[in-house]
Amino acid sequence: MRSVVKGTGFAVGEHLVPNSRFEKVMETSDQWIRERSGIEQRYFVADGVATSDLGVRAAKIAMEQAGVGPQDIDYVVFATMTPDHFFPGSGGILQAKLGLRNIPALDIRQQCTGFIYALQVSDALLKTKVAKNLLLIGAESHSPFMPFRSWDLVLGQVEDKEIGEEERAFGTMIRDRAVLFGDAGAAVVLRREDDESERGLIDFELHSDGSHYNKLYVPSGMAHRPYVDEAMIKRLEHVPHMDGKFVFRMAVTKMPEVTRSLLARHGYTISDVKMFIFHQANLRINEAVQQALGIPPERIYNNIQRYGNTTAATIPIAYDECRRAGKISSGDLCCFVGLGAGFHWGAALLRD
Ligand code: UT7
Repeated sequence: MRSVVKGTGFAVGEHLVPNSRFEKVMETSDQWIRERSGIEQRYFVADGVATSDLGVRAAKIAMEQAGVGPQDIDYVVFATMTPDHFFPGSGGILQAKLGLRNIPALDIRQQCTGFIYALQVSDALLKTKVAKNLLLIGAESHSPFMPFRSWDLVLGQVEDKEIGEEERAFGTMIRDRAVLFGDAGAAVVLRREDDESERGLIDFELHSDGSHYNKLYVPSGMAHRPYVDEAMIKRLEHVPHMDGKFVFRMAVTKMPEVTRSLLARHGYTISDVKMFIFHQANLRINEAVQQALGIPPERIYNNIQRYGNTTAATIPIAYDECRRAGKISSGDLCCFVGLGAGFHWGAALLRD
């Protein structure tokens, strides 16, 4: 019995934002962003477009490819760290927007490793016969976190406008995070198949270590009463805080470790894997992990240049692009690897 991918799809925010736009609202440069992260552009949603909307757009594409309609889906697993609301989760909202039956809809909160965790949960639901046709979403709308004042400049709705020094200094306070993230959603339709085929999800290795959670987190929340107040907003405690160097070091240590361990468990070597798809947080992280593992360039796929870090959506977007470009074909072994806030990290093995 195997959980087999039957369809994939993705959708990005409406506004293409090249690096140069940030130069208008903070002290940064296209060159700094490219050199330190590899990112050239990202997409941001239009105001009012939620994470569930990106999920719906992606789901329609994946469902069409899978040849399934709203009546066929019997479980939704939705990975996101940027739900439409504090509660309820985005899975249920997507169920209604897509016109699915009153099936279960689950939200997964594992940030940049959300898609890999969601894959493991989905695989378990399929193999225990709880579900047959499962819709898995990884979607994020990060831009609402960013407290820019001149969104019209960022989105290119005005070419130029004078902003004061205070506003520029304010933008600069968040420059290490604001330039990294993008808005997008991706979807995968998984089906339980009972034939003898080798295709489908093979195995996972997942880890968590909450002892460093405050190296990448949003300080406001239910540990405070009220969960956010004016003073916290002034201190920017309602936006993500990040110790970038700590996250970088953790990624380049844990990602090779978990990849080696999962492959070894199945007697596979690097050369058995047709394509490695890593979470897209920083091109330099992925190059370091590639080098540590000795992966040849044609067996790794990066697209952070075009989308930035879209958290739970990065791996399924890259996977969709690889399948459509013929870089992954039926029967190929793929390895997904990620690390992110929590901290959570892990890897998944799949035969396409
Ligand atoms: O999915 C998980 C999410 N997060 C990550 O994976 C993040 C992992 N970490 C990283 O990607 C990198 O640490 C960053 C891209 C965030 C930063 O790169 P870095 O090479 O570690 O730079 P840094 O933090 O050491 O900063 C170097 C300088 C600093 O200035 P000073 O103190 O040397 O004067 C920063 O203030 O670069 C400055 N800086 C910027 N300059 C221009 C930080 N952000 C920017 C910016 N533009 N956007």
